[in-house]
Amino acid sequence: MEIYVCIGSSCHLKGSYNIIAALKRLVAENHLEDQVSLNASFCLGHCQDGVTMKINEELVTGVNVDNIEQIFREKVMKELDIK
Ligand code: FES
Repeated sequence: MEIYVCIGSSCHLKGSYNIIAALKRLVAENHLEDQVSLNASFCLGHCQDGVTMKINEELVTGVNVDNIEQIFREKVMKELDIK
């Protein structure tokens, strides 16, 4: 599974590095290093909508440190079929 976190200037200002750090931690905690590839991306075209990320082909906007864990559970773990 490919995850891209936008590090364009707008998302960067809204804390995309914290999101990447949180994702790294979640991937490590769940031992998903072999299944999840974490990448940084240039502007994904949704600068107004908070930090934007792409999980496979699905765009997820409004990501922040408070909801990243839930997004990870709902979009990543579920998709990988991990309960
Ligand atoms: S800077 Fe992230 S969507 Fe534009």
